[in-house]
Amino acid sequence: MIRTEILGTGSYLPEGVLTNGDWAERVDTSDEWITTRTGIKERHFTTEDQTTSDMVVEASKKAIEDAGIMPDEIDLIIVGTISGDNAYPSTGNWVQKKLGIRPIPSFDIGAACSGFLYGLIMADALMKTGAAKKILLAGSESMTKIMNWEDRNTCVLFGDGAGAVILGQTEADRGVMSTYWAADGNLGDLLIQPAGGSAMPASRETVEKKLHAIHMNGNEVFKHAVKKMQEASLMAIELANLSSEDIDLFIPHQANIRIIDATIKRARIPLEKTLINIDKTGNMSSASIPVALDQARKEGRLKPGSHLLMASFGAGFTWAGIVVKF
Ligand code: ACO
Repeated sequence: MIRTEILGTGSYLPEGVLTNGDWAERVDTSDEWITTRTGIKERHFTTEDQTTSDMVVEASKKAIEDAGIMPDEIDLIIVGTISGDNAYPSTGNWVQKKLGIRPIPSFDIGAACSGFLYGLIMADALMKTGAAKKILLAGSESMTKIMNWEDRNTCVLFGDGAGAVILGQTEADRGVMSTYWAADGNLGDLLIQPAGGSAMPASRETVEKKLHAIHMNGNEVFKHAVKKMQEASLMAIELANLSSEDIDLFIPHQANIRIIDATIKRARIPLEKTLINIDKTGNMSSASIPVALDQARKEGRLKPGSHLLMASFGAGFTWAGIVVKF
């Protein structure tokens, strides 16, 4: 049986850092409010001329080196993003160009915070059909470029960054062991970038009203996030024929420390086995999980035989859970 394994990882966080103190000088907020409500202390932000694909390229170079492959061995590029360089071409297309890789299929996945896990599920399916043998999968977001810097309800939550993995095929007893994904468009309005698409093309009015920025009903999103993160985690564990005790490391999407706390209680995963970096990164949407995954590998938290659980929830709504054995 062919399975999909992670051959290498890499990540990139832009140099610029915004602390809670920096935000308190710009909008009516405080370090205390942000820390207790979200767990975030600081987040990185891109410069004006730095794009989402630039960050993928930086993360990918490290992942390619870590995997010990040549860039031209890659036969498919998938990028999870909702803040790509352009509406089109896809960010994946720019990545292929910037990495100087021969013409191979490349595209984006717009599943918000679930973009990386959705991409991994698609990559796994394509590996099994033989359509691809070495896949570059990334999650990358310039969230600070699609948020309203004057809206305290959202601006303090997000950060920029990118994570990338090189995926390969194996017949050994490791790799992606279970996948679970779902979406419910009925709740799409609760977290939305209203303008810039065919529903509301760009106009002077949409720009003035900042309708190209993230609009979120935080409270409602929070309630659904707690439920769906639990569902995604428990389903992925069950589909892998494992129990919570078998999970060696849990990487949840990093949206809010209180959502993570509620998820691990319900999924019966101890805090010591949970990777939390939201304090340093904020919510990086599709980049949160691959950046944390790279951190986990660099810190030696994933050893041969380790079971990694990842779970996400994001705009759409979309949610997903995956177990990978190392
Ligand atoms: N500083 C100070 N006060 C604030 C701030 C701020 N930055 N932001 C909001 N407030 C105020 C509100 O105005 C409100 O004031 P009021 O009571 O006078 O009206 C009060 O704080 C409480 O607001 P709530 O929205 O009830 O606060 P809550 O405890 O729900 O926390 C938060 C807000 C952090 C946004 C939370 O709801 C959350 O994390 N939601 C889920 C986010 C998420 O998971 N998103 C999904 C992924 S993102 C993606 O897919 C792109």
